[in-house]
Amino acid sequence: MVKTCALGRPRHLVKPVSATRVAGRYLTHQRGLPGLPVPPLQQTCERYITALEPIVEADELTHTRRVIQEFQKAGGVGEQLQRGLEKRAGETENWLSQWWVQVAYLDYRMPVVVHSSPGLVLPRMDFRDKDGQIRFASKLIAGVLYFKTMIDNETLPVEYLGGKPLCMNQYYEVLSSCRIPGLKRDSVVNHAKSSQPPKHITVVHNFQFFQLDVYNRDGTPLTADQLCVQLEKICRASQETNTEPVGILTTQHRDVWGKSYLNLIKDKTNKESVSAIQRSIFTLCLDGPTPGAAGELYRSCAAVQMLHGGGTQSYSGNRWFDKTLQFIVGEDGTCGANYEHAPAEGPPIVALIDHVVEYTRKPETAKSPAGSLPVPRRLLFNITPEIKQDIEEAKLSMNTLAQDLDMRVKVFGHFGKNVPKAHKMSPDAFIQIALQLAYYRKYRRCCATYESASLRMFRLGRTDTIRSASNASASFVKTFDDPSKQNLEKLDLMEKAVKAHRSYTNMAISGQAIDRHLLGLKLQAAEEKLSVPAIFRDPAYAKALHYHLSTSQVPSKTDCVMCFGPVVPDGYGFCYNPMEDHINFAVSSFNSCKETDAGDLAGAVEEALLDLKRLLEQTPRSKL
Ligand code: COA
Repeated sequence: MVKTCALGRPRHLVKPVSATRVAGRYLTHQRGLPGLPVPPLQQTCERYITALEPIVEADELTHTRRVIQEFQKAGGVGEQLQRGLEKRAGETENWLSQWWVQVAYLDYRMPVVVHSSPGLVLPRMDFRDKDGQIRFASKLIAGVLYFKTMIDNETLPVEYLGGKPLCMNQYYEVLSSCRIPGLKRDSVVNHAKSSQPPKHITVVHNFQFFQLDVYNRDGTPLTADQLCVQLEKICRASQETNTEPVGILTTQHRDVWGKSYLNLIKDKTNKESVSAIQRSIFTLCLDGPTPGAAGELYRSCAAVQMLHGGGTQSYSGNRWFDKTLQFIVGEDGTCGANYEHAPAEGPPIVALIDHVVEYTRKPETAKSPAGSLPVPRRLLFNITPEIKQDIEEAKLSMNTLAQDLDMRVKVFGHFGKNVPKAHKMSPDAFIQIALQLAYYRKYRRCCATYESASLRMFRLGRTDTIRSASNASASFVKTFDDPSKQNLEKLDLMEKAVKAHRSYTNMAISGQAIDRHLLGLKLQAAEEKLSVPAIFRDPAYAKALHYHLSTSQVPSKTDCVMCFGPVVPDGYGFCYNPMEDHINFAVSSFNSCKETDAGDLAGAVEEALLDLKRLLEQTPRSKL
């Protein structure tokens, strides 16, 4: 397979290495990957205490130390659970991944909208009308189908991180798949692996769904010109705007949706329509113009549109949020995507989108075969009074959620990765330390901070947590604004904080962080039908998991930004894309929380980034 340099993003549009299928390539690669290790118990216990130090009070820590001692003592429950985990690791492809998908996603009952599914904002495209929208959307579909050829043929370039090959499984999970609501737990179906893989996408326009077949009879993908003709037919057939927005049901709390789903699919027509959406390769949402999108706030408005659709007056009903991958194309050049998180992390999604965007920029060369194509099939829904009632309730909840979410996207234009790199620092660590400083300045305390770290060096690896609030970052942020301290001391502390972050990152991506291990031990206790061990009932554990800052770096080649909601009511979501000479970032918070303010934190991050740069430039490091 072709090799690429950085995580999730080949540096140029990679041609499929083979036009025909290379069966077995994927499995051969996967089998060569190491299994996820179970870290040593003592190591995790020690690192857990260290991670708690900057975020809990001294007396809480004393208590937790005692609890940990009891947990890890010879012959204690910790050892028993550790043995259980090690056995599980020996018997499964990945001891964590199935548990993780269940606990982090499928058992999680909050709406996927805002609470779980990220949005992605692309740069505004250069069309401003319906014709331009349709032309662009056609090329986008063709671009995804081109990428899909690499997946189908098993010729997708393998990605590397730190010189090590990564697990490519997530690429095989994002197309032709969908989340299905359940009464207590959801599931995900992936039709790509079925004996008759789907040949259609779904298109939604003015809340109306269509099945669009995207392959010719001879198996070749429709060309952009052919797709253009088909999308025009769809738009002409769905001009009226008073249709019941049945897609809004997917924005509900999962238990509520699980119940109304059963009611919805009792009707045969509805069941067939829902099944067509679930089986489709992906969903394309054709929106109108972005409301309120002007000037500096344009990207923030676009982010809202990608994250939740803007409420029922806008496009929240023009979606099927259970669908793993939804591309969104507005009439005014606004473009992006929304994805359901259970099957994959951001980087594979962004890598796919990078390819698609590059594809849309190339002139179309494929010649369309002669002959007309069948009219795309409208997916019909019979709306009973009960379904109508469920739709009305979903509308209310969605609008409350939309009003509650505050989203601020910034393009920090002063510098990007170039400055930390020039000072021999990890740009990711630099940004995380700036965020710690911004938070400390606002709240005068450090908080539990989550940054996702890729575990894809391991077979079926997903993520672990980098805990960005460390003892070193705490010392730095507490000193930075102290006028009695010299720059030299501040710089020394900054260097230590950045290094501590990078070293936590290395530990996390090599499977030696603490969070998934602790979760594994907790789930193992449940598996062995033991009562919940005291370590997991300790208030410090709850504090450690209450992430006031939930963060993620999602790098890309395209000048885009991903966004997501906070994971606690009084927290922030912070997603960033460090480009070479600027940084795109998106901050979210809930308006219902009086203590948080996305715009404020975004401003504080900009200021902190500039302050860090100034410190680096004003202080000769040779004196350290
Ligand atoms: N001096 C000079 N350059 C340095 C440096 C140093 N001390 N440290 C790092 N760099 C360079 C790197 O070589 C790299 O160069 P490139 O831009 O040419 O590729 C660049 O700076 C970026 O490195 P860094 O900022 O340290 O981050 P990273 O790329 O190693 O990423 C993580 C760190 C944690 C984001 C990554 O390991 C990861 O796990 N990503 C996945 C996250 C994820 O899944 N998110 C989605 C959740 S939905």
